[in-house]
Amino acid sequence: MPNKEFVVAEVKEIIKGYFDEQDKLEAASSKYKVPLTSRLYNEDEVAEVVETLLSPERLTLNSASSDLKIEKFEEQFSGFIGVKNGIMMNSGSSADLAAFFVLTNPTIKNRLLPGDEVIVPAVNWNTSIAPLYALGLRPVFVDVDLKNYGMNIDQVRLAISPKTKAIMVIHLVGFPVDMDSIMAIAREHNLFVIEDTCESPGAEWNGKKVGSFGDMSTHSFYLSHHITTIEGGMLMTNNDEFAELARIIRSQGIMRNVKSQAYKDNFNSKYPDIDPLFLFTNVGYNFRPTEMEGAFGIMQFRKFGDYLNTRINNAMDLNSRLAKFSEYLILPVNDDNRVKCSWFFYPLMLKENVKFTVKDVTSFLEKNGIETRPVMSGDFTRHPVFSLFEHRIVGDLKNTKLIHKNGFFIGIHAGIGDKERDCVVSCFEEFFKNK
Ligand SMILES: Cc1ncc(COP(=O)(O)O)c(C=O)c1O
Repeated sequence: MPNKEFVVAEVKEIIKGYFDEQDKLEAASSKYKVPLTSRLYNEDEVAEVVETLLSPERLTLNSASSDLKIEKFEEQFSGFIGVKNGIMMNSGSSADLAAFFVLTNPTIKNRLLPGDEVIVPAVNWNTSIAPLYALGLRPVFVDVDLKNYGMNIDQVRLAISPKTKAIMVIHLVGFPVDMDSIMAIAREHNLFVIEDTCESPGAEWNGKKVGSFGDMSTHSFYLSHHITTIEGGMLMTNNDEFAELARIIRSQGIMRNVKSQAYKDNFNSKYPDIDPLFLFTNVGYNFRPTEMEGAFGIMQFRKFGDYLNTRINNAMDLNSRLAKFSEYLILPVNDDNRVKCSWFFYPLMLKENVKFTVKDVTSFLEKNGIETRPVMSGDFTRHPVFSLFEHRIVGDLKNTKLIHKNGFFIGIHAGIGDKERDCVVSCFEEFFKNK
């Protein structure tokens, strides 16, 4: 019988050959020359997944193994962000939900109660807001800034009421929100801060990575994100109590993945008649990733630095080469030296007074092989889901409305290089030629 290393090496070689051929075919036949996302994994990840599947005793978080790939990836990624605990989940949406299950849990001091308010930006993602609806909390929508698509600090201050208990920051499109101001407001009013960092791993505010400021942060490894486990996410926190609770909530309410032996001993001694492996110590769901996602994660993490640099270089190049169209376009140029952006997509906005619409531009780009999409939710208050639940809006959401009407994204990921950027620039040249 061939040994495992041999099988994995053989598979890796075959997969490499397959992807090499597939890349050539795709280059000739694909609909888009500049797609929003492309395959950013190769034989490395596939071989690591195959190696995992050849160890059936070690496929889930329920395995007795002490060297799970999930846990290794948790350590690597939370170490990179600079947070003590990383708890991998099966999606960023699950991480958002788990964060609010933690904050509303009866074991938490100052927990959030139904009717309490959470301040959120009006440009967002549905699953960052849905946990509030699910738990009877009231989202309070505030406007965003045009320079970073993140919540406007003055509007956050205006949004505070006696019911406010938390701020849900969303670092959108790779831009960091001003976390010094957010944390100062939170300290002043005794609020929890959750940072949805699903779009912005590696972004920094004032020299510190976003996702490391608040009480908890959430991260996504969906296919189109900076690194991927296909589907996957992570909750991070420096608070050990929150971390243990998140591990329990992730795993059906059992304490198998809890780190603290004292926590386990305490419950075991109080409930000697219940098998500790099946003792439900708190509420629980199933937000668990599998070892396959863990395997993907550790291989992708090795590539993260290069991927991030490519995104940054792509953005810098487009910013300088598209500057000549600033009569028509608002470019994502941010000259605040406290900002380091990690560029989820490349966001563009049409100036208010131009004589053409976003549809005119995006149709032209699409026709010429450049894939486009809206700026995340755009104005969330325009979506059908918005009117189904209780909420409050602060101010006139002027910038949110402008982003909704005039904003769009093109791709900027690690699969984009000189050729693709040239294509983008010449396509804009063509579009603006007769304007
Ligand atoms: C801001 C934000 N939060 C949460 C999510 C959800 O992440 P996932 O797709 O991993 O569930 C996304 C997805 O793109 C997102 O953009």
